[in-house]
Amino acid sequence: MTSRQLTVDLAVVGTGVAGLTAALRAAELGLRVVAVTKTAVGDCNTRWAQGGVAVVLPGTGDSVDAHVADTLAAGAGLCDEVAVREILAAGPAAVSALRDCGAVFDGDAGDLERTREGGHRAFRVVHAGGDATGAEIERALVGAARDGRLPLVEGQSVTDVLRDDTGRVAGLALLGDGCGAGVLRARAVLLATGGLGRLYAVSTNADGATGDGLALALRAGAMTADLEFVQFHPTVLYVGAGARGRQPLVTEAIRGEGAVLLDTTGFPVMTGVHPLGALAPRDVVAAAITTRMAQTGTDHVLLDATRLGGAVLRHRFPTVHAACMACGVDPARVPIPVAPAAHYQCGGVVTDTSGRTTVPGLYAAGELARTGLHGANRLASNSLLEGLVMGARAAVAVAADLAVSPRPGPPLPPRERYPVADRDAVRHSMSAYAGIGRDAAGLAAASAVARATTRRRLRTPRDAEDAGLTLAAAAVLAAASARTESRGCHLRTDHPRAAVRWRRSITVMLDAEGVPMVAQPMPVGGVA
Ligand code: FUM
Repeated sequence: MTSRQLTVDLAVVGTGVAGLTAALRAAELGLRVVAVTKTAVGDCNTRWAQGGVAVVLPGTGDSVDAHVADTLAAGAGLCDEVAVREILAAGPAAVSALRDCGAVFDGDAGDLERTREGGHRAFRVVHAGGDATGAEIERALVGAARDGRLPLVEGQSVTDVLRDDTGRVAGLALLGDGCGAGVLRARAVLLATGGLGRLYAVSTNADGATGDGLALALRAGAMTADLEFVQFHPTVLYVGAGARGRQPLVTEAIRGEGAVLLDTTGFPVMTGVHPLGALAPRDVVAAAITTRMAQTGTDHVLLDATRLGGAVLRHRFPTVHAACMACGVDPARVPIPVAPAAHYQCGGVVTDTSGRTTVPGLYAAGELARTGLHGANRLASNSLLEGLVMGARAAVAVAADLAVSPRPGPPLPPRERYPVADRDAVRHSMSAYAGIGRDAAGLAAASAVARATTRRRLRTPRDAEDAGLTLAAAAVLAAASARTESRGCHLRTDHPRAAVRWRRSITVMLDAEGVPMVAQPMPVGGVA
């Protein structure tokens, strides 16, 4: 173990929208900050976000109350209304700050263009580059970070959040290819590592979305909640049964602009399913597609966007158009084959609306955090907004807390060995048993795979990732096994209805042996 010889006020882990927003704001506030990523800066889920940012703009006839109502409806009874209101009300200022930082949205010269996505009853999703919103946000934030000479440490995996002998956060244990293990001392750590879509064989997520932050937070003693709610995006380009890894998204905004969902016999999938039809909340659409695929004995459905015409598809949806053309599908002429795939982690590390976790000195923001905004099913395009709002708020909270907190003592050494399961077996069993339609026997089988571990020293970044995904999968499965009802993204075939007694969040922490255990049900509204 070598020391990286650096002591900072704040170490931010992750360089997506929440991580970079937090790091930039922390630097503005005068904190010594460093942003660490296991890959390259910008190589994360933010880049792949298409639809946009859901935000209520002045003069549009929309209201925060209406946005709150849509978010609560999508969240299926598990949102924290106070957090929802606080985060959504902060949206317009967060989008202005992002534009000041250089992000250019469509219609920037006048009124921003707005579209609709699933679950929204108003046109309130602003977008950039047509369907390349995440890429534009990432471009602007990375540019600002490089201009501001923000220290960016690439290619370093974090194996543990280190604490001192009082339990306060004191730094990070790092592991890099070619430079071995080391310690970065920090007075505060903000985890913004994104989600866990890559616990599944097929996902819209970047390679690195393997649940690392969730594992780090659990090992540091943090409380997590709502982990069972893994959102599947209804329309991911279907390229064949053998597809594995990240698959191209086909944004919901295409449905917002008039594309329709058909089964392979040409029958509309959403007829009679929900009053919002093809723009129902995402969990409803993904479940309806799954049911229809089972009824028709196929592994995909069709998204017919031909009525939009070639020019609109090329200019308004260039990313989708290019992905379709690359696999020989001209969306102006033929319907696009699509199927649901793992997309977003609605739960995560429990935080307040300033990003504080239950561990002193540890903060979380973005997809990894469970603020109470998403409940059992995230409303489309609320996530980039949450990353912008919560990244900035967490930085402010760190600055305020450090002003009155004692300095941490020397970090205790990281553990020597970590339980690691076989990543391909974990992915296979998560896809088979923890997707849309789960039951007790399947969840038990998947849990057995995630718990069939050997205790290993972590010698390479891939080892670190394997340890993280093993623990993250076991934690998701513990929560999914405990929730014996269907709600939001958690669809149990053996408990097909929602139950009033389950209108509460399930929390997961590690027991003394480091095994995820369902700790305590949490009432709606957040940590008591
Ligand atoms: O369909 C989409 O563009 C996805 C948006 C989101 O995940 O929020």
